[in-house]
Amino acid sequence: MCGIVGYIGHREAYPVIIKGLKRLEYRGYDSAGVVLYDQGELKLCKTKGKVSDLEAKAEKELDTTGTIGIGHTRWATHGVPNDVNSHPHYSNSGNLVIVHNGIIENYDPLKKELIKRGYTFKSDTDTEVLVNLIEEIKKQEHIKLGKAVQIALNQVVGAYAIVVFDKQNPDEIVAARLGSPLAIGVGEDEFFISSDASPFIEYTANAVYLDDEEMAIISLDKPLAIRKIKDDSLVDPYVQELQMNLEQIEKGGFDHFMLKEIYEQPNAIKDTFRGRLRVAEGIVKISGVEDNLQKFMNADRILIIACGTSWHAGLVAEYIFEEFARIPVEVEYASEFRYRNPVIRPNDVVIAISQSGETADTLAAIKLAKESGAFVFGVCNVVGSSISRETHSGAYTHAGPEIGVASTKAFTTQITLLTLMALRIARAKGTMARADYYRYLQELELVPDLVAEALKSNDNVQAIAAIYKDAPNCIYLGRGYNYPVALEGALKLKEISYIHAEGYPAAEMKHGPIALIDERMPVVVIAPKQEHYDKIVSNIQEIKARSGKIIAVVTKGDTQVKALADHVIEIPETSDALSPLLATIPLQLLSYHIAVMRNCNVDQPRNLAKSVTVE
Ligand code: F6R
Repeated sequence: MCGIVGYIGHREAYPVIIKGLKRLEYRGYDSAGVVLYDQGELKLCKTKGKVSDLEAKAEKELDTTGTIGIGHTRWATHGVPNDVNSHPHYSNSGNLVIVHNGIIENYDPLKKELIKRGYTFKSDTDTEVLVNLIEEIKKQEHIKLGKAVQIALNQVVGAYAIVVFDKQNPDEIVAARLGSPLAIGVGEDEFFISSDASPFIEYTANAVYLDDEEMAIISLDKPLAIRKIKDDSLVDPYVQELQMNLEQIEKGGFDHFMLKEIYEQPNAIKDTFRGRLRVAEGIVKISGVEDNLQKFMNADRILIIACGTSWHAGLVAEYIFEEFARIPVEVEYASEFRYRNPVIRPNDVVIAISQSGETADTLAAIKLAKESGAFVFGVCNVVGSSISRETHSGAYTHAGPEIGVASTKAFTTQITLLTLMALRIARAKGTMARADYYRYLQELELVPDLVAEALKSNDNVQAIAAIYKDAPNCIYLGRGYNYPVALEGALKLKEISYIHAEGYPAAEMKHGPIALIDERMPVVVIAPKQEHYDKIVSNIQEIKARSGKIIAVVTKGDTQVKALADHVIEIPETSDALSPLLATIPLQLLSYHIAVMRNCNVDQPRNLAKSVTVE
């Protein structure tokens, strides 16, 4: 987590860095800082709080037009969020300055060694240890910054993306990564260094993504040099042309990114289909799947690994793959998978799902699966992300940048892509009747319009939100395909409104959670007209009998649940397997409105960060 922005070029660096940090705030927002190089001096400003707090402080304290600088927005790992622990950090001499995203695991012995050599530390961070280690090596070996960084990084254990600057050699910036992303924007006589491409998208579409264990020496008068940290060998920089545009990363008239992204879902789902779903020809074609079709067809089992919302998408995919392609599926939390000794068999196929493509646990689980010989397929949103590069093959969801910390369009596009994959594999294996296959293609093509219709429930949902905004707890229930949607609805509510919420399979309620039901407990029941509808009606009756307040998500025109529930939210009719794509929409809206009414920071909920690049 944490966001990094660096600049070296002909522009004033401060505004570039501040704007960039605001775009990266999704990565962490408990403190922020910036350092500028101006006429032989380093000018530093940092503070606990958000980038806007930094801006306010900088307005009073920072007076510079320097054209070189680095900035940071932090999600604390070592040391509480306060001014001192904020980045950038100076070395003892005050010549070197660093920003860091990640964790240096062996910082303690390194710190002790540096203390023996006379170093002192102001902060509790592992980062300050790293910058002093670099300084010590530079001093002992009489070498330039790049070489010292390389030697230091070979001594550290952990994960990092760092940007370091030496005021005695102000023509270059050194950047390096292991496990945390770093992109270099290559402009005309200028370079941008950042955790993703959003800070520089309006300046250049040319980007170089550093790979793990690579470092870059970025200088205005020399070509960009990329080296392997381990053996110092040179790597040819691969300059990619980015497809992202500025509009995609701005709010576009919405109050929050989350709301914008909820409303983007019809188009995002269409983008997931684009070029892949050809209904008239009866074709589903996803190149990563086509290239590996035999592997999927011969799979004895699919293992899905993911975290959070992506894990919920994996649970929906479990139902879909088993139903369509008749392949047994197991869905694992990446964080659990990586730390046990999972049984991975030769014909297992692993699907890793990740919006950011940077989640540390998922990345580590992928590496473990690969070591066991498994074929690993990635379902990612962020193009060029670590997971998309670490997997053997994969497909992008093409949802566009998701900036709100709470995942919305990533979830529905992941389900869309996984559904397309299941259909393709089912067709190849012959596990789905031809007529069903064609029906699903037609229904899938309608989903964007149906999502747009589901979004029309917004006013109704807002009114319901006003009634329940002060509830301390909430239960979400669903069955079958919509059981994971219940989990996702509960996660959305807790993460952005801080209301305690739990999701359960509806039938599980009687095995414990029913004890919680009384007249103060809102229960959101996902009850579209589908298989086992009668069973969920019975569950609703059980809640009603205990005076629980029922908010039901029902198929348009439903009368039976309507007669029982306190509130209903209608969604359009579709097949059972596609219903999660619609049922999710009002739950996203419900959590959004409740969070707004509770004055919560919707896009940047407390303690969270968009991409979790630490264990
Ligand atoms: C919840 C949310 C998180 C992420 C999780 C995995 O709204 O966003 O639970 O889903 O951290 O992130 P990715 O998908 O980037 O691997």
